[in-house]
Amino acid sequence: MKIAVAGTGYVGLVTAVSLAHIGNNVTCVDIEKEKIEKLKNGISPIYEEHLEELMKKNNERLNYTTDYKEAYKNADIIFIGVGTPEKSDGSANLTYLYNVLDNIKEEAIKDTIVVIKSTVPIGTNDVVEKYLNKNDKNITFRIVSNPEFLAQGTAVYDTLYASRIIVGVEDEISKEIMTKLYTPLTKEPYNVPLVIMDRRSAEMVKYASNDFLALKISYINEIANFCEKIGANINDVTKGMSYDKRIGNKFLNPGIGYGGSCFPKDTKALYHLSKEYDCEIKTLKASIEINKNQKMVLIKKILEEFENIDGKTISILGLTFKPKTDDLREAPSIDNIKYLLEKNVKIKAYDPIGINNFKKVFTSDKISFYDNIDDAVKESDITLIMTEWDEIKNYQVDNYIKLMNKPYIFDGRNCYSIEDMQKKKLYYNSIGRKTINNIK
Ligand code: UGA
Repeated sequence: MKIAVAGTGYVGLVTAVSLAHIGNNVTCVDIEKEKIEKLKNGISPIYEEHLEELMKKNNERLNYTTDYKEAYKNADIIFIGVGTPEKSDGSANLTYLYNVLDNIKEEAIKDTIVVIKSTVPIGTNDVVEKYLNKNDKNITFRIVSNPEFLAQGTAVYDTLYASRIIVGVEDEISKEIMTKLYTPLTKEPYNVPLVIMDRRSAEMVKYASNDFLALKISYINEIANFCEKIGANINDVTKGMSYDKRIGNKFLNPGIGYGGSCFPKDTKALYHLSKEYDCEIKTLKASIEINKNQKMVLIKKILEEFENIDGKTISILGLTFKPKTDDLREAPSIDNIKYLLEKNVKIKAYDPIGINNFKKVFTSDKISFYDNIDDAVKESDITLIMTEWDEIKNYQVDNYIKLMNKPYIFDGRNCYSIEDMQKKKLYYNSIGRKTINNIK
């Protein structure tokens, strides 16, 4: 089968490489020349474990091009993995999707299956089917919904060893072809369950899954905030909860809110859609609001401790929205740094791989960047931990004491154990646990 994949971001590129890995010939198309040049030279434009390795291994089955005419013309299946960012009203912006659809409509010369991997509002696949089939070429486009469940940082593993493959179809031909395409992944060593359903249900699985996880995080963040007030330890609480198999131990880490390109956008998009249908999902409204506040919880804690932060030097450890990615979309570090700069604070920022991307978001002569933690915390008044990178979790706590003016640490990711910190001469304020103050 000839496969084309539109979009070389996390979803598109990882899908393409994985499909090549199970034996298909895949052409990746992107309008950004720079990205395609990198890919042709074996370099991935995104940082993702094992991706370049697999690109190299499957090189002869992978093509990269900006020429969508060539890619779409003879393709049997076209996957679409372009972004569907958030509009100002919270709904999904489908501009990139429709750009690709217009190109497909123009260039395809035979019946083609179009698989939408991008996260799109429920009902979009139906609209797309009508849109593409209004053509004067007498060719049929069959639309398949095949949402993606990969997480950044583990994208390759999550695709090959996926928790499930969801395929939404409305016709037998698509069902047959998609089953054939994914059969290798349903077998050893992958053993991925392939679940086939109607298109609207498949589209809903994606939102319902992401939004459930976002809700789980917001719930535990609220419980954590209350633990602080009531004198309980959230880490013990979640441990105790996790023995119940119905609850499990995943996505129960309290912190400074969820970020990234998915949860913030997908909670808002489904909420927006539910209101449009006069069926408001109130739990989503709560989750969105809780997350907005939680992102700024460390600032609230600082302001409770310090009357005035004007002129202080503050170290920020971790810029990306989570570890093992260089992605900064919706990262709490951005809102926090913006706020602190307005308060006339000097920022010393550390991140193992996110600095270059952060500089694209904004720079200020009040921010200096460091590739090691020692220099980042040296002579600073306050340290804020924003991302639980291993480098931060494994950092020698005594170095904060040695290097900072006074070791005031606000940990948004509970990187250190309370028992260990209790033995140290420092101030340590984390999420959902008691505050240690051994320096007064
Ligand atoms: C998420 C989903 O996990 C994927 O299944 C989905 O395919 C993807 O969105 C998508 O729609 O494309 P991702 O955004 O890469 O993946 O990252 P997650 O690992 O889910 O983390 C999202 C945010 O939640 C991060 O900011 C993380 O720090 C936060 N989080 C996660 C917590 O605060 N606590 C937790 O226990 C887990």
